[in-house]
Amino acid sequence: MRGMRAFHVLIFFLCVIGTVVLHVLAGSAQAVVISQDAAVVLSEFFVAVTFNNATPVTVNNACSEWPQHVVCNALSQSIKTLNFTSQQLSGTLPTSLSRFTGLTYFNVADNSIGGTLPPEYSPWGASVYYVSASINALTGSLPPEYHNWTLLNGFDVTSNQLS
Ligand SMILES: *[C@@H]1O[C@H](CO)[C@@H](O)[C@H](O)[C@H]1NC(C)=O
Ligand SMILES: *[C@@H]1O[C@H](CO)[C@@H](O)[C@H](O)[C@H]1NC(C)=O
Repeated sequence: MRGMRAFHVLIFFLCVIGTVVLHVLAGSAQAVVISQDAAVVLSEFFVAVTFNNATPVTVNNACSEWPQHVVCNALSQSIKTLNFTSQQLSGTLPTSLSRFTGLTYFNVADNSIGGTLPPEYSPWGASVYYVSASINALTGSLPPEYHNWTLLNGFDVTSNQLS
């Protein structure tokens, strides 16, 4: 009987430890919190291109709410991927996106975005390797400021009205 009781006490403590471990793991999985400025920039992007987000952007939900579209770098706690292909976007590309200096991948292909390609995006050059804005309604010309995007291995702005 005493052995049985000791067994029950052991099971009880294993359960407690297991619960604590699960909480710690769950906490670290959702711990990616971006800066207030990054949340503002993402929110401005959603408004500028008329993305139909049901939930407002916060520093806590930005990296988990739109997993198909917004991916974060957990180490630097910043947004690294924006992928909004075929999302029926319109409007224009906001210049404030230039503040995503850790961006590696930007894809807004197959939408109805108008306006011009912002020369302000030149600071992306420090990190960006893929940019596509093909199949939209962009006008103007390719900003020479993009020439120092030296890490690029994919760039597509075809099927627009660029001169
Ligand atoms: C971007 O989204 C498209 C369409 O969902 C998908 O085919 C592509 O693999 C995505 N790219 C990345 C880097 O996630
Ligand atoms: C590219 O030039 C812009 C200024 O036009 C600068 O802000 C940015 O840091 C430069 N990027 C690289 C990778 O040199």
